[in-house]
Amino acid sequence: MSLNITPVHPHFGGEIIDIDLRKPLEADELEAVCRAMDRYGVLVFRNQAMTDEEHVAASRQFGDLIETKTAGHPEGITVISNVDEHGQILTRDAPRYWQNLGARLWHTDGTFRTTSPTYSLLAAHVLPPSRGQTEFAFMPAAYDALDATTKALVEDMVVEHSLLYLWMRLGFGHFTAQQQRDHSPARHRLVLQNTFTERRSLYLSMHIGSIVGWTLPESRCFIDDLLAHATQTEFCYTHDWRPGDLVMWDNRQTMHRGRPYANAQDVRILHRTTIKGSAPTAAQRPAGAPVPWQVSGVLSRTNSFPGIDSPREEMTDHSARFCIAST
Ligand code: SIN
Repeated sequence: MSLNITPVHPHFGGEIIDIDLRKPLEADELEAVCRAMDRYGVLVFRNQAMTDEEHVAASRQFGDLIETKTAGHPEGITVISNVDEHGQILTRDAPRYWQNLGARLWHTDGTFRTTSPTYSLLAAHVLPPSRGQTEFAFMPAAYDALDATTKALVEDMVVEHSLLYLWMRLGFGHFTAQQQRDHSPARHRLVLQNTFTERRSLYLSMHIGSIVGWTLPESRCFIDDLLAHATQTEFCYTHDWRPGDLVMWDNRQTMHRGRPYANAQDVRILHRTTIKGSAPTAAQRPAGAPVPWQVSGVLSRTNSFPGIDSPREEMTDHSARFCIAST
């Protein structure tokens, strides 16, 4: 079957108004949505105001969900909001205030996992008058626009992703030994290919900290150039949320980030589910191989990441400052 899709951007993104995700999709509808995801990368479903249970049921049609537990919500729902459990707007003394800022950086959901997620489904619950859009960048278009030399260079490149690398970009430089163990990097190919469209795309995120086989400084410079290339205005769509919107995106073909709003006065609440990936995109780092966190740790040894609940353990080994990520 063919879906009635209105493109929202010259390269990607489509709006669908005649599908109700609160009801189970017929097999041909499900197939059509998946093929539309291959083509468009981002689909905006209007008028879907749904309960968490409906959100989880709609998402499960696309695969198993990443397990998350938020008090008062069903398994699989991640609440993205600037309020605490009492409905009070978060202030700077709340760890979640700082953790929320991670979503303002260009990222791709779950790249720090060895099996990277496929789709994310984000539903509007409370929208601020001060905007708070979500911006998407389309990675197949970014890949196509690379020059031939860069395409050849990245073809078999493997990079390391970790939540700690994203937090380092926010300026946090001190992590406990437990956090370092919990967030050991996952390796992924930098170039993925969609099985149906056969288009290659850049699998990028600010979770990337190093390129396997490269020095850290050269890795950072190269990845920052790629991020700047891939997030040029021509590859980006900014979604202005409307009540009832559910936006679904393919994490293997897009990056996204939340945009600012008056988070000290306006409430913004969205609920997200994320679909598990099935297989790693690359061989993983050897067990026990040292992780070169220290190169960014030197930025600030006093800015510990909020939410640390185990005692501080100083990082003292700077020997990895210019190390090459082990192959
Ligand atoms: C997300 O990163 O999943 C949420 C983005 C947003 O808050 O707009």
